Amino acid sequence: MRTRPLKVALLGCGVVGSEVTRILTTQADDLAARIGAPIELAGIAVRRPHKVREGVPAELLTTDATALVKRGDLDVVVEVIGGIEPVRTLITTAFEHGASVVSANKALLAADGASLHAKAAEHGVDLYYEAAVAGAIPLIRPLRESLAGDKVNRVLGIVNGTTNFILDKMESTGAGYSEALDEATALGYAEADPTADVEGFDAAAKAAILAGIAFHTRVTIDDVHREGLTEVTAADIASAKKMGCTVKMLAICERSADGRSVTARVHPAMIPLSHPLASVREAYNAVFVEAEAAGRLMFYGPGAGGAPTASAVLGDLVAACRNKLAATTGAGESAYTQLPVSPMGDVVTRYHISLDVADKPGVLAQVAMVFAEHDVSIDTVRQQGKNQGSGDEVAVEQGAGGRRAGEASLVVVTHRASDAALSATVSSLRKLDTVRGVASIMRVEGE
Ligand code: NDP
Ligand code: HSE
Repeated sequence: MRTRPLKVALLGCGVVGSEVTRILTTQADDLAARIGAPIELAGIAVRRPHKVREGVPAELLTTDATALVKRGDLDVVVEVIGGIEPVRTLITTAFEHGASVVSANKALLAADGASLHAKAAEHGVDLYYEAAVAGAIPLIRPLRESLAGDKVNRVLGIVNGTTNFILDKMESTGAGYSEALDEATALGYAEADPTADVEGFDAAAKAAILAGIAFHTRVTIDDVHREGLTEVTAADIASAKKMGCTVKMLAICERSADGRSVTARVHPAMIPLSHPLASVREAYNAVFVEAEAAGRLMFYGPGAGGAPTASAVLGDLVAACRNKLAATTGAGESAYTQLPVSPMGDVVTRYHISLDVADKPGVLAQVAMVFAEHDVSIDTVRQQGKNQGSGDEVAVEQGAGGRRAGEASLVVVTHRASDAALSATVSSLRKLDTVRGVASIMRVEGE
């Protein structure tokens, strides 16, 4: 084993960085044996140097991250600060000074991955970011390396631990939304600004990264259709239950049927209870990858939290250190297909639409006509309400409380239709006098 250590700097020592430090310290001998040289932690950049940090050598702390990455003797910089700036500049500076970079920063990678890859290649160093998607789950490396000989057509899964934790707590314990979010934050799952989790920005960033790698093209967060968890109502969750489904926040990246474009989207969706994603609990993530030769692969594991994320960071660190010793680099960006990203209107899936309608004869026929006019085929219709002699032929259930007299709730589930056709249908429905409101629209996936 080489005795001269590899020098590593850590940018950030919060939820993830403190666990990286702990493992670097406690597993030092094993890591050295696996790499072929010991790791020396050269410095740790933080905002608050006087904060008490158990197990973190205080003499290594600095608030001058720029000076740290400019040292010139670093082999690898591990970035676990988060956000776009100053991190983008720090990473670029690290490359310019010869260091490889390991990052957990999906927001930055999804915004500016292409230019960071180009910078790393220009300086002959690595840029690794396994921890940026799905926490501890090995997903980036299998997609980039193990599946490099196959053709991936679809990536579908739960990639945000916080929102899965919230939905799971709301459904299984009856916890309120805010209470569940507070718990996820206390457990270190949520982003510094949890809006990124609940509004779907975090999952959209991950979807962009996954789509880019899976389809060998460039996808940024701006290409990803995004809808947040905040749109989901308790009525949606109850309605899903009645259909034998549950609500999950999904990321879905697909190659189009003709193979000439891709789509990437993040939104809450109903999935059948029989689907494996339905049983993903707490902050766990699960991702299905569908490839032509391999078939359907499922990746499952802890999607957030300090120690699980540190595991992925350390895996990348070992790989980057080995490359440094061998004076080589790993696989860089592969974006040769240059497939365009199609708009959400081109996506084809099933829909669950909940309408508040006048409870009188002929309404169901009127509504059905609108769906037919837009070529959206109806699978099932359920009317909830007193339905006093309306004559509509539907499965009638006793009304949920709170609805106004003379009003009913009509739940329509469609066959597969394009998002554009569904949007046009909903616009027309809103114009009907008998439709008092569109209570919710949710996609139905996983069938
Ligand atoms: P934290 O907020 O817990 O930690 C951020 C760290 O960065 C803190 O140590 C903070 O210093 C330091 N920091 C902030 N700004 C600066 C700055 N300008 N200069 C130097 N240091 C700075 O975040 P997490 O550890 O949760 O997340 C870090 C990254 O990992 C993010 O990109 C996140 O998206 C990603 N990630 C997080 C996961 C998780 O489960 N938490 C999972 C997967 C990825 P101080 O301690 O002094 O405040
Ligand atoms: N906030 C993120 C999540 C952390 O909840 O999934 C892991 O990327």
